[in-house]
Formats: sequence, C-alpha cells, structure tokens
Amino acid sequence: MRHVAVVGASGAVGERMIRLLEEREFPIASIRFLASERSAGKTVTFRGESHTIRPLAPEAFEGVEIVLSSTPASVSREWSPVAARAGAVVVDNSSAFRMEPDVPLVVPEVNPRDILKHRGIIANPNCSTIQMVVALKPLHDAARVRRVVVSTYQSVSGAGQKGITELDRQSEAAYRGEAPPSPSKFPHPILGNCIPQIDDFLPTGYTKEEMKMVNETRKIMGDPTIEVSPTCVRVPVPFCHSESILVETERPISVEEARALWADAPGVTVVDDPLARAYPLATTAAEKDDVFVGRIRPDLGRPNALLFWCVSDNLRKGAATNAVQIAEKLLELAPVEV
Ligand SMILES: NC(=O)c1ccc[n+]([C@@H]2O[C@H](COP(=O)([O-])OP(=O)(O)OC[C@H]3O[C@@H](n4cnc5c(N)ncnc54)[C@H](OP(=O)(O)O)[C@@H]3O)[C@@H](O)[C@H]2O)c1
Repeated sequence: MRHVAVVGASGAVGERMIRLLEEREFPIASIRFLASERSAGKTVTFRGESHTIRPLAPEAFEGVEIVLSSTPASVSREWSPVAARAGAVVVDNSSAFRMEPDVPLVVPEVNPRDILKHRGIIANPNCSTIQMVVALKPLHDAARVRRVVVSTYQSVSGAGQKGITELDRQSEAAYRGEAPPSPSKFPHPILGNCIPQIDDFLPTGYTKEEMKMVNETRKIMGDPTIEVSPTCVRVPVPFCHSESILVETERPISVEEARALWADAPGVTVVDDPLARAYPLATTAAEKDDVFVGRIRPDLGRPNALLFWCVSDNLRKGAATNAVQIAEKLLELAPVEV
C-alpha cells in the first residue's frame, strides 16, 4: 500500500487519473490532491470519501511515495524536483523532463524496463506519440520500423479543460445563431476548422508538437535512426486523437501479418472490417484504454510500406492510463525501493 499524491487534480488529465486509480484498484494507503490556489478548497471524491484539494507547497510531499503529476510544464519544472528530493517517485505528464537523458520516457507496452533507470522522475510521453508507438512496437519487433509518415487529428481535450470549454462555447454560440466568442486557447476558431498548428512553430517550419513526435518516438523505441515525418492538426472533436500512419519497415509486412501481430499485441485492438464500415472511431474509443487500429492496407507503390488508421483516448492511454500503468510497473519491477 502506497502513499500517493495527485498533482493537477482539478485538470482534464488529473480528473481521469483519479478515476483510473479507483478503477484499477491501485494499492493506496493514503492519497492527497494538489493543484494551484485557484482550485484549493474544492473537493474531489475518491473511493466514496470527500477530499479537499490543497495548493502545491513543499510540505505537501512529506511522506508521499508516488506522485502522479499533470500540470503545465513550467509548474512541473519547479515542483517535480521538489517532490523527488522529498523522496517520492514522480510520474510526470508534462513535457518538462521528457528529453532529459537521465529521465526515462516510458510506455509500458514498449520500454517498461527503462523505468528502472529513474532517479526520482519518470516522464510520460506526449499523447500523440504514446498511441503511435504502442501500434508501431509489434511491427518494429517483427520487421524493424525505418520510417513513419503521420498526420494527426487531435481532439480539443488535448489542450486541457480550456480546450474543451472553447469548443463548447463556440458550439453553443453557433446553436443560438450568435457570433462565436474569440478564440483564446487555439490560434483560430476550432468550430468548423482543422487547424494545422499545435504549439508554437520552430524556424524549420515544424511545430513543437510535431518535433515531440519525432524525438520522443526515437527515445522510447530506443532507435535514433527511425525517421518520423509528422503533421499535427487540431480538429473540432472533444475526445480521442486519430492518426493516419504510413510505416515503412526493413522487410515487407503483409496486411495479414500486421493484423496478426496487432491481434497479439498488448494494449492494441484491431477494428478492421471495411465492408461492414468497421474501423476505429473517436466516439467508440473514448473512455477506453486501448489503442485501436484499422483501415490496414498496403502502400500502392512500396512493397515495404503499410498504411493504417489509429485512434486512442488522449486523456486515458495518452495520459492518465499510461501514467498509472507506469506506477503499477514501478511497484512490480522495484517492489521495495520506491
Ligand atoms: N490533455 C491531454 O490529452 C494531455 C495528454 C498528455 C499530456 N498532457 C499534459 O498533462 C499536463 C496537464 O494537462 P491537462 O490537459 O490536464 O491540463 P488542464 O486541464 O489545464 O489542467 C492543468 C492542471 O494543472 C494545475 N495547475 C496549473 N497551474 C498550476 C500551478 N501554478 N500550481 C499548481 N497547479 C497548477 C491546474 O490546477 P488549477 O485548476 O488550480 O488551475 C490543473 O489541475 C500538461 O502538461 C499537458 O501537456 C495532457
């Protein structure tokens, strides 16, 4: 039984984290919920008991063994080391430490043993990256992935609670026939648009979100030579990210072989019956923990390339589920020494 703190408990990921700890019956001796002064004093219900959210403060980590953190990166940069110095292991959802060489970046279906290299902080990858590497892993093990071309269709909840609220407010205004409120979370109105910009642009013409997919994929898969060509797009969908992926492998993989590999892979569900119009959809993947793949087909030109469609719940497997799975794996791999 462990002493646990959930940091960012009032946020979109934090809320899922709380539900997942309940659903998965995580072994908890005590739990505390932390956020900013804005949410301090609000209550959350956990296993039937009401808890008050407390503001982040150094003493909040006293006696805590595992911290599940989902705050903005700037907040994590300041507070995750404080929690680690107080003796806790932090599983951090933000981008603050993902590319630090001494911080493991973990997807339990792909590189679980990297957890053992932690020095107090374990990073949870970007949501678009997690679902892609879960799908790529069995193909990589069988035939070595060389190149990936990916276009994402990312839901507004990927931008947190404010992203969800922005789409809701624009939809309500449209329903009433009123002018939509000006966008604040997204660079343009999200209702009625697919916005080909997530996070800021870099001088190369790629966005930071796109470069997270490139760099995090290589780190998690442990192969710096994998080429990733991403385009990240925000779409007016509340939950779940969808991705169109072309993957090139060292040796050709047939559609049948890929389907069989995915059917056996942990965390992957194949939904692929085009004649029955069955393929992964955001509405059916929402609130699930798996990564769903379908529309599996050969490339028209290259024998060693496959295309597929991949959907997963960004707040669950893309964030909270992966973080709780890391914490579970940590207890399994290093039962005494948390
Ligand atoms: N949304 C996703 O799909 C997703 C997926 C993977 C990773 N992530 C990452 O997870 C993190 C959280 O994302 P989210 O979507 O849950 O965002 P969110 O809905 O905006 O929630 C942010 C949380 O951080 C807390 N927070 C903000 N500033 C704080 C401060 N100064 N001190 C203490 N707590 C503070 C907020 O508390 P208050 O309510 O008090 O402001 C809230 O609980 C981000 O780093 C994000 O990049 C998100």
